[in-house]
Amino acid sequence: MGASSLPADTDVVPLAQPVLGVEEEQAVIEVLRSGQLSLGPRVPAFEEAFAMRVGAAHASAVSSGTSGLHLALRAVGVKEGDEVITSPFSFVASANAPVFERARPVFADVDPVTLNLDPAAAAAAITERTTALLPVHIFGYPADLPAFEALGLPVVEDACEGLGARHHDGPAVGGRGNPAVFGFYANKQMTTGEGGMITLGDEAMKARIDSERNQGRAPDMGWLDHDRLGFNYRLSDIACAIGSVQLTRLDDLLAGRARVAALYREALAGLATQRGLGLPCEDGARHAGDVRGWFVFVVQVPREGPPRDDVIRALRDRGVQSKPYLPAIHLMSFYRETFGHREGEFPVCEDVAARSVALPFFPHMREDQVARVAAALGEILG
Ligand SMILES: Cc1ncc(COP(=O)(O)O)c(C=O)c1O
Repeated sequence: MGASSLPADTDVVPLAQPVLGVEEEQAVIEVLRSGQLSLGPRVPAFEEAFAMRVGAAHASAVSSGTSGLHLALRAVGVKEGDEVITSPFSFVASANAPVFERARPVFADVDPVTLNLDPAAAAAAITERTTALLPVHIFGYPADLPAFEALGLPVVEDACEGLGARHHDGPAVGGRGNPAVFGFYANKQMTTGEGGMITLGDEAMKARIDSERNQGRAPDMGWLDHDRLGFNYRLSDIACAIGSVQLTRLDDLLAGRARVAALYREALAGLATQRGLGLPCEDGARHAGDVRGWFVFVVQVPREGPPRDDVIRALRDRGVQSKPYLPAIHLMSFYRETFGHREGEFPVCEDVAARSVALPFFPHMREDQVARVAAALGEILG
């Protein structure tokens, strides 16, 4: 952890912590005792509860957000040589998923307020090869889906950070009918350890996804017969059982995160006005009615002042975990080398990516922990 300059008994404020209780423990024990650890009844039960929660007609549980993005892109027909427009300010999986199909991720710059893919920039990047748009609900703020949908191309939503968010025109993230992909890694709004879920409106698309996550087997086929290419992207019954319990906690988990965000806003208001610390945008910052489903609390260090990585080191020396989040995808070495990207292509993304720091953030974070983080940042930023 690197907090070596601290006295041994100083508590470190962790970056993230899942909330798991005896209900999850009991659910796992029940699955273990049932003997059916995979392809069992917990999978459709979790899918149905999740679909209901976000207002989707269907849902398919998958092994991760990344595998969900892969299957969702295949389901809308993305293939070799196609272009998929996405955000350079995201977790790398959003851009990797088209590459799995030998399609090209085409980046467009982000909105400086919401940090989501800018619909106007995405529209300008469309060519005759573009076959899908892949907006990301970054940090839980809903991307402007009505604007993307108006562009008339298939949309796959990277909702891995977007659970609990709501669009200004009404639906919850995941409930618009487009395939929307959620992730359940342990730092997410809810967790299954590893895991993901694709929500969608089209029944035939769900059938394809369900087959492709299971080696390309149709539901009525014998276990060694396959009528298409598939993968093993299944989510186990153990994970689905945990997920079903987590769903029952979701309102509390989201409320806990919103509470901590409000505490941070208050504690950091002075640093924002006096030192130029950038805070996450408020609900409705771009469209009245947008609601964030809080995932991470990311601040931007001021342009004048200690560089971001020095701030992270100084926080660590004060017992506060933090991390650069997110780096610009197009500037990662794989993307530079494979697609020839360079600095200066997406200036808003690059500026934000160079200054972003994710602070400790989890539903049961205490007020004194928030105060400690704020005090540490205050010392560091002077
Ligand atoms: C925006 C975004 N996309 C995709 C993913 C990939 O999800 P997973 O780690 O479950 O594969 C994540 C999560 O890490 C994410 O934050």
